[in-house]
Amino acid sequence: MSKNKAIILAAGQGTRMKSNLPKVLHKVCGKPMVNIIVDEVKKNQCDEVVVVIGKGADQVKEEVKDVVFALQSEQLGTGHAVMQAEPNLTGNGHTIVLCGDTPLITTETIASFMDMHIESENDISVLTALFDNPFGYGRIVKDAKNEIEKIVEQKDCTDEEVMIQEINSGIYCFKTEVLREYLNEISNNNAQNEYYLTDIITIGIKHQLKVGTQIIANNDEIMGVNSRVHLAEAEEKMRARINQKHMENGVTLINPRDTYIDLDIKVGRDTMIYPGVLLQGKTEVGEDCLIGHNCRIVDSIIKNGVEIQSSTVLQSQVGEQTTIGPYAYLRPNTELGKKVKIGDFVEVKNSKIGDGSKASHLAYIGDADVGKDVNIGCGVVFVNYDGENKFRTVVEDNGFIGSNSNLVAPLTVKKDGYVAAGSTITKDVEAGSLCVERSKQKSIENWVYRKKKNNGGK
Ligand code: UD1
Ligand code: CA
Repeated sequence: MSKNKAIILAAGQGTRMKSNLPKVLHKVCGKPMVNIIVDEVKKNQCDEVVVVIGKGADQVKEEVKDVVFALQSEQLGTGHAVMQAEPNLTGNGHTIVLCGDTPLITTETIASFMDMHIESENDISVLTALFDNPFGYGRIVKDAKNEIEKIVEQKDCTDEEVMIQEINSGIYCFKTEVLREYLNEISNNNAQNEYYLTDIITIGIKHQLKVGTQIIANNDEIMGVNSRVHLAEAEEKMRARINQKHMENGVTLINPRDTYIDLDIKVGRDTMIYPGVLLQGKTEVGEDCLIGHNCRIVDSIIKNGVEIQSSTVLQSQVGEQTTIGPYAYLRPNTELGKKVKIGDFVEVKNSKIGDGSKASHLAYIGDADVGKDVNIGCGVVFVNYDGENKFRTVVEDNGFIGSNSNLVAPLTVKKDGYVAAGSTITKDVEAGSLCVERSKQKSIENWVYRKKKNNGGK
């Protein structure tokens, strides 16, 4: 079977980004641009994706998985970039070439372009677009029969060519064997001393190959990101696309223009999302959830029927019908069971909390294993750190930790154990015991009235 390949050109620095990060690693909706493109082409049965890297090659290698890299150590042009992938141009399938800085391209567009290329039996196909303002792009020059003749770069255009509104998207499809055979005919014999990939059109025509074009339906998709302004524009367009998809899947977004959901995030139907919410990383939100305004949820799994108000949730898991917030902070490695309540100003870190347990207000729960139906009162602190080491606290099922208590780890409050309010507990609490650790209350009768009398009644 003939195999299809993709080559993604990503060796340029992207000077106008003014960044230490290679351009293609800048993120759009949480994902590096180059990875967005890699994932879109992979959905099109491209068995092998070659990424041409150069500037910041090591950084790119670290971020991009399951592709083949070709190193272009000097950036001598787009034609030269593809030449670096030549050893990978084996077999007799088709090869699509794309740029690493066009994150809005979709798998549907790539598929329809490749279908056209294959059905027309083209040797070379160019994806083009009609722009009102084509400035900066290579122009598609066509002959009397409306067939492509050549691509001319902006700076090489004649007065007539500069008026052409059909432009080169920078996306091409080749019969792999054609690319293999004619690539090396590209020369740098031009004003820029660059190897232009676009020259392959004239080379193909000279060899009487079949060269065709397809005009893209949605110009946004080939928008190239060259600056931070472009990056924000791409982000806005991608965000609108993501939000539309979630709404189509049955998620209510109160204000989609103020909802920030990264790529690849799953949200179940009938979930409501209020303005100012950020769902980031590898987050999954179940069905029938309510995510109130200004929540930030990162790399977390939220099960069905959960309600979260104005809270931050990082790398955590939240069980069904649990409620969180407002103003709660779940730090990494928190696991909440079902119907748990984590109320206002409660911070939880690296802890497991069992079904039905509650910490309704103002508590710190760090490095703890809390069982089922435990009540953690207002102002409770799990004292997990002695200045050098962290220790764990265990509170078994049905435990009751009175308000304003300190549990100094390591210790265990055994099943049904009860800690009186205001206690600082340093030893295990036995099953079913009450532990009080505070001085006895003294009462001095009439003390206030005597004091007033001595002060002349004031
Ligand atoms: C290129 C096309 C132009 C087209 C435009 C679409 C050429 C000569 N021109 O111009 O017709 O309208 O794209 O956006 O191809 N790259 C490398 N190595 C290099 C040079 C570039 O990997 O030596 C990569 C860049 O990182 C980038 C892509 O190729 O991802 C395009 O390069 P760029 O310099 O942006 O080409 P344009 O001038 O925009
Ligand atoms: Ca460009």
